[in-house]
Amino acid sequence: MSVLDELRQTTRIDHEAVEQLVAIERPDFGVDDYAAFLSGMLAAHEPFEHGWPALSQLGLWLPDLTTRAKAALLRHDLRQLGREPAPADTRIDTSGVYVAGEALGALYVLEGSTLGARFVLARLVPLLGDGIRGATQYLEAYGETRAQRWRTFTAALERAASDAALRASIVTGAGRMFARVRGLLSDAMARD
Ligand code: HEM
Repeated sequence: MSVLDELRQTTRIDHEAVEQLVAIERPDFGVDDYAAFLSGMLAAHEPFEHGWPALSQLGLWLPDLTTRAKAALLRHDLRQLGREPAPADTRIDTSGVYVAGEALGALYVLEGSTLGARFVLARLVPLLGDGIRGATQYLEAYGETRAQRWRTFTAALERAASDAALRASIVTGAGRMFARVRGLLSDAMARD
């Protein structure tokens, strides 16, 4: 089984849980919910991205690593919505992801979310109106190159996973990042 298939299997429940938390299908999904989603994702991305330079192997696997950072896009979108994002989180916190294999697994979660983003976007525009388009840099990350970026990422993932110990570490890291995203979205999106 490819590591990608293993990751899909081991994180299927997590994905269902985050979809439920975001609840983009709700008819009353509003701009506050969208802002809460962006805040939760910012809290997941920012400290993790600050940890990248300490994980040099990650940059060797993915030479385009720094262009995969998304905290700045999330901050931009929040500001466009008139929300002042939480102050920049400058901690180096790899969220329990302390070795490069785990970080690659964590990155699977965040890079994979760019695939779902176009579905979220397709739902968001009719729901919130065309005006929302100024605040969708994060959901539109990679633009036309989205599929290409995903292929580059998964190729690096499969290469790294040819080492059995690394493969186990990738699966651990993906589980940890999904758990973190679930916690952060659950806090950010708590509805009455
Ligand atoms: C309401 C919100 C979401 C919806 C509707 C959604 C929907 C989807 C869909 C339809 C795909 C498959 C896309 C394709 O194969 O081209 C996908 C993939 C994925 N999504 Fe989501 N998603 C959502 C939120 C998230 C979040 C918040 C995360 C994690 C931060 C996430 C992580 C992933 C991952 C890792 C994959 C890749 C699965 C794989 O192919 O291995 N998604 N999502």
